[in-house]
Amino acid sequence: MQEVSLDGPVSADQALLWRDDSLLLLDQRRLPRDEVFIVCRDARATADAIRTMVVRGAPAIGIAAAYGVVLAARDRYARDPQGWRGALEEDLQLLAAARPTAVNLLWAIARLRTVIGDLGGGDPAPRLLDEALAIHRQDRADNLRMGDFGAGLITGRSAVITHCNTGGLATGGWGTALGVIRAAYSQGKIERVYADETRPWLQGARLTAWELVRDGIPVELMADSAAAARMAAGGVSWVIVGADRIAANGDVANKIGTYGLAVAARHHGVKFMVAAPTSTIDPATLDGAAIPIEQRPAEEVLQCAGQPIAAAGAGVWNPVFDVTPATLVDAIVTELGIIERPDADKIAHHLAKV
Ligand code: MRU
Repeated sequence: MQEVSLDGPVSADQALLWRDDSLLLLDQRRLPRDEVFIVCRDARATADAIRTMVVRGAPAIGIAAAYGVVLAARDRYARDPQGWRGALEEDLQLLAAARPTAVNLLWAIARLRTVIGDLGGGDPAPRLLDEALAIHRQDRADNLRMGDFGAGLITGRSAVITHCNTGGLATGGWGTALGVIRAAYSQGKIERVYADETRPWLQGARLTAWELVRDGIPVELMADSAAAARMAAGGVSWVIVGADRIAANGDVANKIGTYGLAVAARHHGVKFMVAAPTSTIDPATLDGAAIPIEQRPAEEVLQCAGQPIAAAGAGVWNPVFDVTPATLVDAIVTELGIIERPDADKIAHHLAKV
């Protein structure tokens, strides 16, 4: 894969760039040490980048896949201006299979499929690029809206806990849960952020801390296992997380460890907020049990930063997401408003606004 660097420092809102007819993805595996972009020129490279975590975070995965469809259509049309639609199907399947849990991936591909269905003759790439750019822009705008909604739920001034990375790096910009945190901090409502380091990929330590330190928002990292003790110590009002898929009954799939945070939060009287765009709600998935949970390679747990850390011969269970039941969620915050104490009726009512 070709790598490029920008002239100056990279901002968290530049995780995905469309430049010179190619998709540039900030290689999040190498942050915070290196600010290097991987160049994707076709669907296969884009799918590989999604699968190998160059780009990650549900909304960002969806945006990357949208650009991947543009690259695929350009390629297929150049090779066969008449029969490109049939050949493109293979690329759409490849992109859709890159990661299984984040429903934004399927949502974005479905949006481009609709555009493809409406296209007449000629090169499909310009029209598809317009749609991918619109998805990208819209995601950032939606995050700003949900940031304001979420900040409105926070009263007083306190600390919050967050998990994984849900910032500009994981989205089209600004962030979901981190967008709420940014908005609430700017309103003087957040004293500090406790960020779980988020084993095994360390999205909290490497990415969330990178974003918050750059913003000047006080952040303290903690081992994931420290979160319950931190709640017991007091001073934390909310746990604020993102989501990879929200089922029709309000159950939430998010980074492994989220469920434990929700259980601990309820025990300690700490509120639990999920911030996600409406595209993360999947009405076709009835409940959390129906959400496909991605299992990743054993090496991710057996190693840390590429170094073996485990006793040889140990087995590994490595689901990278878990499901938090709706009953443990105080609020789902979207760009269209807040769903308090979510259930199937409230989710259906919310989706009727779309
Ligand atoms: O495995 P990852 O890094 O893609 O997991 C990301 C998360 O779990 C995020 O919390 C979720 O995608 C929401 S990002 C706005």
